[in-house]
Amino acid sequence: MDTPEREVAAANDRLIYGCMGLGSVGRDDAGPGEELRQAEAAVGAALEVGITRFDHADIYRGGSAEAVFGEVLRRSPGLRERIEIQSKVGIRPGRDGAVQHYDLSGPAIRDGVRGSLERLGIERLDVLLLHRPDPLAEPAEVAAALAALRSEGLVDRIGVSNCSAAQIAHLQQALDAPLVADQLELSLYRHGFVDAGVLVNHPEAVTVDFPHGTLEHCAAAGIEIQAWGALAGGRYSGRPPQTQQEAATTALVADLAGRYGVAAEAVVLGWLMRHPARISPVLGTTDPGRIRACAEAEAVSARMSRPEWFALYSAARGRPVP
Ligand SMILES: NC(=O)c1ccc[n+]([C@@H]2O[C@H](COP(=O)([O-])OP(=O)(O)OC[C@H]3O[C@@H](n4cnc5c(N)ncnc54)[C@H](OP(=O)(O)O)[C@@H]3O)[C@@H](O)[C@H]2O)c1
Repeated sequence: MDTPEREVAAANDRLIYGCMGLGSVGRDDAGPGEELRQAEAAVGAALEVGITRFDHADIYRGGSAEAVFGEVLRRSPGLRERIEIQSKVGIRPGRDGAVQHYDLSGPAIRDGVRGSLERLGIERLDVLLLHRPDPLAEPAEVAAALAALRSEGLVDRIGVSNCSAAQIAHLQQALDAPLVADQLELSLYRHGFVDAGVLVNHPEAVTVDFPHGTLEHCAAAGIEIQAWGALAGGRYSGRPPQTQQEAATTALVADLAGRYGVAAEAVVLGWLMRHPARISPVLGTTDPGRIRACAEAEAVSARMSRPEWFALYSAARGRPVP
């Protein structure tokens, strides 16, 4: 893998590469080695634009995302020491008709982490996220499992995903270490995190699909907000628009991209990063060109004017702010 030579010096430390699309390619015509080639190309492009944080979960592509990433690490000596690896546990996927369920019991957390470490071929996760809130989880049991993993040196830092402020505060009370991240779906398309603040005391508030107070709680506690789905699955940056609203937003994104001299992806992410919550986007594209297109996102966020930001928000929500 020729990534070290191609790497640029400038760090892009607010961008995280999401590895959910790596691993079993799932096509009949995928020849041997295609998964590895795809993973090396994606990881190489991420490193090239200064991304050094990689997001996994034990369940991505049935474990094959972590397995192929482990192979990439083995083929690139020294890479492990230059990057941060984050993974998640707590979802039991449905198989053979079994019901999907969540599991944050002590054994599930421990076994999940050990499985990830084995597939990745590493000794420690830099960050472990609890993938989704488990309604049957006992905070004391979760805390004991996390403390044991940390004291054994298998996990460095801990965080959550898809959690509200109240859930974070409740869990934090039982823990002996601070939660460092909450990963949630946020984007120009899933803009509920903005609506939650804008539509206070307004009839439209009933439509808000984001847990109130979560950004504020995380800011006060120093918890990083990571955004999954940040590229909105390609809406506004190349995927054909499905509605008039999407078409109008796509046109506005293209116009701004032209004015800034950047790719549409950088505008979509720049809008997210312009928000003072200092959101860290997790990029899910496996296309090396699209990964590179994200490189200018933070620079766009620094340039984006208030009228431009509100124009994008209004276009995406389909009406002006009240
Ligand atoms: N915590 C959680 O519960 C959770 C849930 C989901 C995901 N995640 C994490 O967040 C990461 C990103 O999430 P995501 O993958 O759902 O969201 P995303 O980055 O918004 O979307 C990526 C998907 O959109 C496609 N796409 C992007 N631009 C496109 C374009 N111009 N035209 C057509 N398709 C386009 C990509 O296909 P190509 O690969 O072909 O570009 C890929 O399938 C994941 O990798 C994972 O690490 C976390």
